[in-house]
Amino acid sequence: MYQEGRLYFSSTGQPYIKYYLDERPGVAAATIWSEIGILSPTAVERLDYPTQKPAALLERIIKASSNPGDLVFDCFMGSGTTQAVAMKLGRRFIGADINLGAVQTATKRLISLGAELHQPQRKLALADDIEPPTARYTGFEVYNINNYDIFRNPVEAKDLLLQALEVNRLQAGSLFDGEKDGRMVKLMPVNRIATRQDLNELITGFDYKAFERRQAEQPTQPVERLTLVCMGHEPGLAAHLQREVAYKLDVEVVDILRDKQDIQFKRDSEAKIVVQGDQLVIERFYPLNLLGKLSLQQEHVTDWRELVESVMIDWNYDGAVLQPTVTDIPEGEALVAGRYAIPADAGTIRVKITDLLAESLEQEVKYG
Ligand SMILES: C[S@@+](CC[C@H](N)C(=O)[O-])C[C@H]1O[C@@H](n2cnc3c(N)ncnc32)[C@H](O)[C@@H]1O
Repeated sequence: MYQEGRLYFSSTGQPYIKYYLDERPGVAAATIWSEIGILSPTAVERLDYPTQKPAALLERIIKASSNPGDLVFDCFMGSGTTQAVAMKLGRRFIGADINLGAVQTATKRLISLGAELHQPQRKLALADDIEPPTARYTGFEVYNINNYDIFRNPVEAKDLLLQALEVNRLQAGSLFDGEKDGRMVKLMPVNRIATRQDLNELITGFDYKAFERRQAEQPTQPVERLTLVCMGHEPGLAAHLQREVAYKLDVEVVDILRDKQDIQFKRDSEAKIVVQGDQLVIERFYPLNLLGKLSLQQEHVTDWRELVESVMIDWNYDGAVLQPTVTDIPEGEALVAGRYAIPADAGTIRVKITDLLAESLEQEVKYG
């Protein structure tokens, strides 16, 4: 070895044996990993997720940087390739994504992979022929954080925020979104942290003539009292606004993540109730507050009836008091029927569905 120049010593005297590339099994990784191609639209592993990465790429990264049992975290998980490969390779995993579609795709993928891994006869599509790990971590939980399901729709989120904070709304087109207790309220972008740039709209939109007048009238008082409502914010946000404007401003920052963690968003339940021939059919029911509490996505409820305590129906609603003739309150494990024969003398039909949180939805159904 020594004569062949294969044995050598490091500067600290540590001995090493030199091997050449063609003596080693497998394909040598190039600096640029061009041998792992992008995932073609027709690839077997392809899911319905546009930016999905090939499992072979994640397999190489995970094997190179972790050991079985380690914890792998991909905070932009998309379709969950990292988590799926981590599961196959016996690593524990955490994933996050801002996109609900990603969470759903990854969840479905991991549930079916977990089931597949529990069938030992199935050969797994790993890029290399490796021994399966001794322990696999196939269970996982899905969490909704920071009112994520609210904030994924910015327009709806603004409405819900104004409602939850009891802000009096201003007309559309105003510089501010509302007013509360003598303060003008501005909602900053709701699906990301607020930055100094986000203040530009205010800085350019302020009514400086009014500021001038107020300052002349009451020189020691602020010309405006304003509240910025945000979901996380850059430090010094209020100070930046005060610096940029040559008038005295009283700026308060209400950060939902910091100051209002227990804010309750009231969301109404939804139901789809239809008439099919002489039957009244509840096709769907989404008790949104209950689903939120259960950390469930609407799509994950297979049978809405599992979430329902009772259904009551008034076939001739008088417009004031519900006088139900149908009271469907099942015993024990039984579920409500969800389908009811409409009597011949039915007029205005009103249905009351009460969920497991005792929250009710009432809805009228046109008939005749
Ligand atoms: C390139 S894709 C990841 C693809 C993934 N490796 C796969 O195989 O499907 C990037 C992901 O980051 C998510 N993302 C973007 N901004 C984010 C944020 N601030 N927080 C969490 N996820 C975010 C996107 O929704 C997208 O799913």
